[in-house]
Amino acid sequence: MDSLSNSFTETRFEYDPKTDLKAFDETKAGVKGLVDAGVVKIPKIFIRPSNDPPETPNSRLTNLQVPIIDLGGIDGRDRRDEIVDEIRRASEEWGFFQVVNHGIPFGVLSGMIDGVREFNEQDLEAKKEFYTRDRNRKVRFNSNFDLYHAKAANWRDTLTISMAVPELVPEELPSACRDTTLEYMSHITKLGETFLELLSEALGLKPDHLSLMDCGKVCSLVCHYYPACPEPELTLGNSQHSDPAFLTLLLTNQIGGLQVLHQNQWVDVEPIEGGLIINVGDFLQIVSNGKFKSVDHRVVSNRVGPRMSVAFFLSGVSVPPKLYGPIKELVSEKNPPLYREFTLSEHFGKFFSGALDQSILDSYKL
Ligand code: OGA
Ligand code: NI
Repeated sequence: MDSLSNSFTETRFEYDPKTDLKAFDETKAGVKGLVDAGVVKIPKIFIRPSNDPPETPNSRLTNLQVPIIDLGGIDGRDRRDEIVDEIRRASEEWGFFQVVNHGIPFGVLSGMIDGVREFNEQDLEAKKEFYTRDRNRKVRFNSNFDLYHAKAANWRDTLTISMAVPELVPEELPSACRDTTLEYMSHITKLGETFLELLSEALGLKPDHLSLMDCGKVCSLVCHYYPACPEPELTLGNSQHSDPAFLTLLLTNQIGGLQVLHQNQWVDVEPIEGGLIINVGDFLQIVSNGKFKSVDHRVVSNRVGPRMSVAFFLSGVSVPPKLYGPIKELVSEKNPPLYREFTLSEHFGKFFSGALDQSILDSYKL
C-alpha cells in the first residue's frame, strides 16, 4: 500500500474530511485506485452516517418485485395498447419497471458493459486524461460528482458522456470503449424515442406529444463502475436519490445492488440478463403533474465486483431557455397544477450544486 492510501486509513486525532477528499480526488484514480492499492478498511470519507438512510425491512421478506414488461409484439395494435397500460400502471405505482424483448441485441448490451470494464481497468495514465469535474467537458471521468457536497462519498467511479448539441464526435470518446459505446448509443437513442411515444400514450396524449416538447432531446450516458468493497455495510455504491432527468434507461451487469423504495421498503431489483431497467425521473413527474412517480433508489455495496451499470438519461433543452411545467392537457380545475414552471438550467444548476441525496422536486411544489 502506498503512503497516500495509508493516510486515508490511519486513525487521526483530528479528522478533516476536506483534506482527505482533496487527497483522494487528486489521485485521479477513483475508488478503483484504492482497491488496487489493497485497502482492507474503507477510508473514513466513504463511511455513511449510521442512521442515514434509515433501514427498512428487506423485500426478500415480502416478495415484492418491480413489474416486468414484455415489449414483444409492440407493433400489433392490441399488444401495443396492453403495453401502454402496463407502462401507465408501473409508472404510477412504482416509477420503475424492467423491460425484456426491447429489440437491442444481447451482444450490443454485453459489448457496452465490456467497454465500461475496459475503460476502468486500463492503465491509470490513460484514464487520468479524462478525470475532471468540469461540466463543460462532454466526456468526463471522476469519482462522486458530488464529492465535496455529500455527507459521505459513494463506493463508485463514473464516466459521463454528454450527448448535448453540438454533436459529440467519436474521437472525443475514450478509445477503450469507443466502438461499443457508439453502437450502444445508436440503439438506446432509438429505444428512448419509442419510450417517449409510449409514455405520451400512457398519459392519454398524442404519441408525439413528449417528443414535440423536446423531452428527450438532450441525453447523457452515465457509466458507473462499482468495485468490490471490503466493508460493504459501512458505505453505499449510490446514495438514496431520485433521478433529476426525464427518464432513465438502465443497463447493468448481473451483480445486483439496486434497490427501489416502494411502500417504505427497499425492494431489490434482480437484474434480468438481456433486460433493461426503466425509471421515471423528477422532470417527468412534474410534466405529468404528479401522475407518474420519480421514486427514490440507491445501490448497496457488495463484497463481489465490479458491478457495472450504464444509465441513459433523457432530458430536455436548456438552450435556448425553455419553460417546462405540468402539461396543460393534464391539468384542470379539478386537477390543478402541482408544480410551478422551471427551466432546465435552473433544475440542473440545483442538482449539480447539491448532494445526490437532496431532493429538488419539493422546491417546485405550488
Ligand atoms: C443513477 C443510478 C443505478 C445503478 O445513475 O442515477 O441510480 O444501478 N444508477 O447504477
Ligand atoms: Ni438514479
